[in-house]
Amino acid sequence: MVIAKSKAEIEKMYRSGQLAAQLLHELCKMVEPGMNTLTLDRFAENWLKERKAFSPFKGYRSYPKHICTSINHQVVHGIPSEAAIMREGDIISIDCGVSFEGYVADTAATVGVGAISEPARKLIQATEQSLYHSIEQLRLGNRLYDVSYAVQSYIEPFGYTLVREFCGHGVGRKMHEEPLVPNCGKKPHTGPKLKEGWVLAVEPMVNLGVADVKTLADAWTVVTLDGKLSAHFEHTIAVTENGPRILTALNA
Ligand code: MF3
Ligand code: CO
Ligand code: CO
Repeated sequence: MVIAKSKAEIEKMYRSGQLAAQLLHELCKMVEPGMNTLTLDRFAENWLKERKAFSPFKGYRSYPKHICTSINHQVVHGIPSEAAIMREGDIISIDCGVSFEGYVADTAATVGVGAISEPARKLIQATEQSLYHSIEQLRLGNRLYDVSYAVQSYIEPFGYTLVREFCGHGVGRKMHEEPLVPNCGKKPHTGPKLKEGWVLAVEPMVNLGVADVKTLADAWTVVTLDGKLSAHFEHTIAVTENGPRILTALNA
């Protein structure tokens, strides 16, 4: 069952969302060649603590850290570590969840480390655009898979591929609630009707090469099978009578 949120709950989720947006922004600004990803994790841990918030990632199915940091061919769920050093020309996807006063927000972005290649820049740009296109579908009168179709129909003309194994999701008191929000494989005007108060995390994961992925022996890090780049963007969005409200948009 999808848990619709009241207007008061959406205001609370907006507060979590704004913290998540600010933290993600700070983390993205910190990214520089030579830095390791554990530095980002430690910053996130302290930043949240100072604001009486915490990461819903830490301890989730025994996940050991506070954010996910996925470099280059790593798609999602990369575990921050001292050994993972960002190099000029890399791209890094940072996924950042915040739990504040009982409500979770979930947001992610991919950024370049120093100067990056043109194909990398284009991949990042298209992935972000696919997210904004799909968010436009989060309107009363539409159905859930209009969102999925918007991602896929935007991405595929570039020749990029979508990761099938991971989806967006409902979000609320828990990080992962119903419904699943697929990024592909769905026809438009299908799926459940969107309802006022639904809060969804939409999160396209887009690969430069093949769609196939595998999970590394650390049980978390998802990588592309062909070793080519992958990008990931995510927002937490409320379905309102006035259309989509992006709770994790910076200064929204
Ligand atoms: N935030 C991720 C998502 O977008 C989930 C991270 S789970 C973790 O759904 F355990 F890796 F943190
Ligand atoms: Co996330
Ligand atoms: Co998510």
